[in-house]
Amino acid sequence: MDGLYSLGALVEPLCLWYRENKRSMPWRDDPAPYHVWLSEIMLQQTRIEAVKAYYERFTKKLPDVEALAAVSEEELLKLWEGLGYYNRARNLKKAAVLMVERYDGKLPADYELLMELPGIGSYTAGAVASIAYGIPAPAVDGNVLRVTMRFLNCRDDIGRMAVRKKMERSVMDVIPKDCPGDFNQALMELGETVCIPNGVPLCEKCPLENLCAGHQMGNEKELPVRKEKKARRVEKRTILVFERNGCIGITRRPDSGLLAGLWEFPSLDGHMGISGLREWLKERKINVETVARMGRAKHIFSHVEWHMTGYRIVLAENTLPDIVPGLVWAQREQLSDMYAVPVAFRFFLEQIFASVR
Ligand code: ADE
Repeated sequence: MDGLYSLGALVEPLCLWYRENKRSMPWRDDPAPYHVWLSEIMLQQTRIEAVKAYYERFTKKLPDVEALAAVSEEELLKLWEGLGYYNRARNLKKAAVLMVERYDGKLPADYELLMELPGIGSYTAGAVASIAYGIPAPAVDGNVLRVTMRFLNCRDDIGRMAVRKKMERSVMDVIPKDCPGDFNQALMELGETVCIPNGVPLCEKCPLENLCAGHQMGNEKELPVRKEKKARRVEKRTILVFERNGCIGITRRPDSGLLAGLWEFPSLDGHMGISGLREWLKERKINVETVARMGRAKHIFSHVEWHMTGYRIVLAENTLPDIVPGLVWAQREQLSDMYAVPVAFRFFLEQIFASVR
């Protein structure tokens, strides 16, 4: 992944086009750092037209970083209601609190420092730095990758981080020092209005039509390339929540691999029905008082999905404690204070904490 993509030829025609064609947007018309940041976060999963009303309401209630840092979680989530992906809102507030603590309630005018804040990745940091502060920094999102890969007639996989990073370096190499924000927004704007996705770019309206290698070669509809991710493996498991004298049985995961060294409930391969489970317990001479279904839960890791079905098994008083190798009996509070049980088991943990026996 050496070298750079060659983007020099698109800079001038693109900037000229943007000056003539840029749309009016509230955060564009008043590009204060807070406005640019907030709008970029809102725009991450939501269309421009839909964002406008949320943006107006949000900035009216919370006009600056200090107001955002001081807002209650309840009010914040109310203002965000309808935009979805609520962690975006929580991260906004977390970042605002840090800005008050560290930067006198301002967004730092520094690409690297921006990236240290919650919810701000390289795209958002580049957008804020370039649009609000005029700092040359790349802001490469899906729109920009589509425009540039078509322009270059390049089949590199845009799902790869190395490709995105190479594009960021390439944008940085040609970004005009006197108008970095306009250049970045011009790339986004062209991607949103002309070089649009899903096979139908409006090449006849494009200022780069004669320079675009993808179009010249007739490949614009196939570009960019994003390779299918390998499907995740699904593992079905039956989770056994054993209870004895008010304590819960847990075992420690191996020292290497997924969730290494963390604690979990014993489990069996596959999904076992309740009568199969009773049989399994009987064969092992595990005397039980009750067996109850806890329901199903799914947890998604990057390469595996666990599809779990769980049972709560209260042992009879005369049952010996060592029913499963390595089993440790933990008091309920210890499951949150002492033993690290991963969130993958949250569905079952919540039921344990909710039940009062
Ligand atoms: N999409 C996200 N941010 C944008 C911006 N500042 N201009 C145009 N499109 C965008």
